[in-house]
Amino acid sequence: MALLYKADPQRGERWRQLFAAHAPDIEFRQWPDIGNPAEIEYLAAWQAPDDLATLLPNLKALLAISAGVDQLNLSALPPHLPVARMLDPGITQGMCEYATWAVLSLHRDMLRYRAQQQAGAWEARALVPASQRRVGVMGMGQQGKAIVKCLQGLGFALSGWARSAHQLTGVECFAGPAQLPAFLGQCDILICLLPLTEQTRGILDLSLFEQLPRGAALINMGRGAHLNEADLLTALASGQLSGAVLDVLGVEPAPADHPFWQHPGIMLTPHIAAMTQPDSAFAVLLDNIRRHQRGEPLNGQIDRADGY
Ligand code: GLV
Repeated sequence: MALLYKADPQRGERWRQLFAAHAPDIEFRQWPDIGNPAEIEYLAAWQAPDDLATLLPNLKALLAISAGVDQLNLSALPPHLPVARMLDPGITQGMCEYATWAVLSLHRDMLRYRAQQQAGAWEARALVPASQRRVGVMGMGQQGKAIVKCLQGLGFALSGWARSAHQLTGVECFAGPAQLPAFLGQCDILICLLPLTEQTRGILDLSLFEQLPRGAALINMGRGAHLNEADLLTALASGQLSGAVLDVLGVEPAPADHPFWQHPGIMLTPHIAAMTQPDSAFAVLLDNIRRHQRGEPLNGQIDRADGY
C-alpha cells in the first residue's frame, strides 16, 4: 500500500523520513514518481493531479496538505472520494502568531509610526487600551477559536462571526448573514479567516467596509479572492479604513506594478502566516489514514457540497 505526496518537494523529504520511521507499512512516494498507480490508496496533496479517477484507480482518500481546500477543483474529483483539510497544530500556531502580530501592529499604529520614521517625524499618538479595541474574527473554526484565545490573553474586546452559531466564553458570537451588520458595526479591527467558497468570494468589498466603524482596519489571512482589491483602495483613500495587513492576494506573487507594494496604509506579506509543518502535521495525517483504515470518519473531512 502506498501514499502519494504531491506538494512542496523540499518538505517532501521530511515527510519521507517520518513515514519511514513511524509508518513503515505505508510506502511513501513523491510526485511525479508514482510507481505502480494501482498501489496508491492515499494522496497527500496541495493540488490534485488532473483526472484522478483514471490516474489512481484505487485511491481511498485525498488528504489535503493545507488548511484551505479551495485550490482543489472539488467538482472534478471522484464524487465519493473523502477529502480532508489539514488540521495541523503547527498551522494553528503560525496563524496565532501572525494574527497577534498584525492586531498589535494595527492597534499600536505601527503603519503610521513606520511612515513617520521614514519621514523623520517624532510624534506620539494617543494610546488606546486593548480593552477598548474591538477585534472581530470572521470564521470561527479551529484557527479562529485559537486566535481569539491568544487575543483574549492580551485583553482585547473580542467578537466572532461565522455561518453557524458558536459559543465561546468572553467572546460575543454572531451567526449568519442576518447578524453580519451588527457584527461589523462593532469591529475596530476585522480579521478574515473564512474558507473561500462561492458565498465568501469577494465578501471583503466596499459595502462590507462601509458597515465597519469609520477608521477600522482589516487583516486578511484567508484567501486573496475574499478581497475586492480596488474596493480596499477606495476605502483607504476615503478614510473609511485606516489600514490593512494582507497575507494573501488575488494573484500571488503580486505583480511588480501592484499598487499595494508601495501603499502606506497596507502591510503586505507573501502568504507566510502559517505553513504546514511536517513534524506536527505527520501525526495528524497518519491518524487520518489509520482512522480511514478502521472505517472511521476522517478528522477535518470536508462537506463536498459546502466546499469546506
Ligand atoms: C495555507 O494557506 C493553507 O491553507 O494551509
